[in-house]
Amino acid sequence: MNSTNNTVSLETLTSLCKRRGFVFQSSEIYGGINGFWDYGPLGIQLKNNIRDEWWKAMVECPPLGPDGDPLQIVGLDSSIIQNPQTWVASGHVGGFSDPMVDCKATKNRYRADQCWVVAFESSEAGEEGHHLRLEVAVEADAKEVAIETAREKLSKKEKKSLGDNPAAVAYTQMDLPDGWPRLSPATQENTLTEPREFNLMFETYVGAIKNDESKAYLRPETAQGIFLNYKNVVDTSRVKVPFGIAQIGKAFRNEVTPRNFIFRSREFEQMEMEWFCHPDESQKWFNFWKEERMKWWESLGIEPENLRFRDHDADELAHYSNACVDVEYRYPFTAPDFGELEGIAHRGCFDLTQHQEASRQKLEYLEAETGNRYLPNVIEPASGLTRAVLVILCEAYREEWVPKDGVEGGPIAAEPGQPTPEGYESRVVMKFLPKLAPVKVAVFPLLKNRPELVVKAREIYYMLRPKWTTFYDQAGAIGRRYRRQDEVGTPYCVTVDFDSLQDDTVTIRDRDTMEQVRVPINELETVLAERLG
Ligand code: GAP
Repeated sequence: MNSTNNTVSLETLTSLCKRRGFVFQSSEIYGGINGFWDYGPLGIQLKNNIRDEWWKAMVECPPLGPDGDPLQIVGLDSSIIQNPQTWVASGHVGGFSDPMVDCKATKNRYRADQCWVVAFESSEAGEEGHHLRLEVAVEADAKEVAIETAREKLSKKEKKSLGDNPAAVAYTQMDLPDGWPRLSPATQENTLTEPREFNLMFETYVGAIKNDESKAYLRPETAQGIFLNYKNVVDTSRVKVPFGIAQIGKAFRNEVTPRNFIFRSREFEQMEMEWFCHPDESQKWFNFWKEERMKWWESLGIEPENLRFRDHDADELAHYSNACVDVEYRYPFTAPDFGELEGIAHRGCFDLTQHQEASRQKLEYLEAETGNRYLPNVIEPASGLTRAVLVILCEAYREEWVPKDGVEGGPIAAEPGQPTPEGYESRVVMKFLPKLAPVKVAVFPLLKNRPELVVKAREIYYMLRPKWTTFYDQAGAIGRRYRRQDEVGTPYCVTVDFDSLQDDTVTIRDRDTMEQVRVPINELETVLAERLG
C-alpha cells in the first residue's frame, strides 16, 4: 500500500462492504441485531487470509527469539463454554465490567468513558461580565473527535457568541469535575445517572434445568481456555519453558455500546498467544513480543505512520496485568487520534495462580535440569481478528482519478470534495496486499458474444483456479469488469482478446498501476506466481 488514506468514512466503507459482499448486518431481514455482523463471501476470505498469516507467524513458523533460538509455539482450539468456575477464578465474574450511564429521560445507555461533556469557553467576556461557557454532550471514542463533534453541534448563534476558535475542554462521565451537569447526548440536559458497573459476560444455561447451578458463560476471551489446558500441553507436547500456546476463536461481550461497524461488536474473533516464561526473563520477553507484533502488523501492508504503541497508565491496567502496551491504529473515526488494535500484556503469574488455587490442581512447572518448580509468568499478545479486518479495509480503501482512453498517465489520488478533472474518471480501489486479497486473479474474455474468446478464457480459468482463488467474468463492458475487480481488490486481471487467438498471449492488468502487459499463455502461471508472491 503506497499512500496513506484513512479518511474513508465508516458509512462509505460499510456501504462498499455490503454492496460487494464483505460484511452484512446480522439478521438483516428481521431488522438486524445490534452488535452482530455476518461476513459475506469476500469478507470471510479476507478474514481467513489474515487469520492464516497470524497462525503462520505464531504456530507454523514462529520467529527466532532474542538470542537467535527458534521459538516453540503450539496451537489450541478450546471450547467456547467452559466450567463457570473458570470465570470466577479469572476475575471475570467479579470484575469484567464497563462503567455505564443511563439517560433517565430516553432510557438510552452509554459507556461512561465514551460519553463526553464538552465545554467551550469564549475569550471575550459575555453580557454579564463573565466568559461564556457552553456545554454540549456527545458520544465519541476519542477526545479530539468529541470536541470536533460538539463544535459541529453548535448553532450559528452560539458560534457567533463564542467568537472564533473558542477554547474547548472535554470530560467523560468518569472524570467530570464536581458540580458539572451530567448532560445526556440524547437530551442535552442533566438526565444521566451516575456511572455504574455492568458485567459484560453473556450468560446461558447448560442442560435441561435453568438455575444457578446450570448457569454458564460464553467466553469473553480465548485466553482462559489456554490457561486451563496449560498442564495438558506441558504433559503431552514436550514443550519446555519458554514456550507459547496460540488460539484463534470467537469471543463474546455484551458491550454497552457496540459501535463503529465491526470495531466493537458483541460477537467477535480473537487471536491470542500466551507466552510462558521464567519470571526473571519476563521483561525481556515483554519487550521482544512488543517489537515482533508491530513488525507483524506492518507486514500486512499497514502504513507505519498509522500505527503506534501506547503504554497503559497504572490506573487503566486490567485486573490481571502488571504492564500493558497497546498497538494502536489511526482509525477514520478516531483520527487524528488512535484506537486499540492489540494489547500486549504482562500477566505475571496471575492466571495460573488463580486456577491453581481454585482447582486445587498443581500447575507448577518442573524444570528438568535444576529440579526447580515455579509458576511461569505470562506475556500475552492479544488481538482482534475481526478488528484486524476493519483495519485492513480502512487501509486498503482508495479513491482515485484515472485517465480515460486516449489520455496519458496513470491513476492519481482523488482530492476529497473536488470534481473529477477533465479527461479523467473516478474509481474506488481496495489495495490489499496480494496475500490478503480475497480473489487473486480474474479472467475475462474481451467480449462475451464471441465463442472463440469465451472458450479460450474459460480454458485459462480452468488452468488457474487450482492454484489461486480465481474469478471468471464475461458480463458487461470490459471497463466495468475491471472496476468491479478494483473495488474488491483483485490484484490481477487476465484478458483474452483477438490477438490471443493469433499468438497465444493474454494481457495481465495490474490493479494499482492499471498497466497491461502481454504474456504468452504458457508463461502466465510463472508470471502470476512471481507477482502474487
Ligand atoms: N485476553 C486479553 C484480552 O482479551 P482485550 O484487550 O480485552 O484483551 C484483546 O482484547 C483484543 O480483542 C482487543 O485489542 C481488540 O482487538 C479485540 N476486541 C476486544 N473487544 C472487542 C469487541 N467488542 N469487538 C471487536 N474486537 C474486540
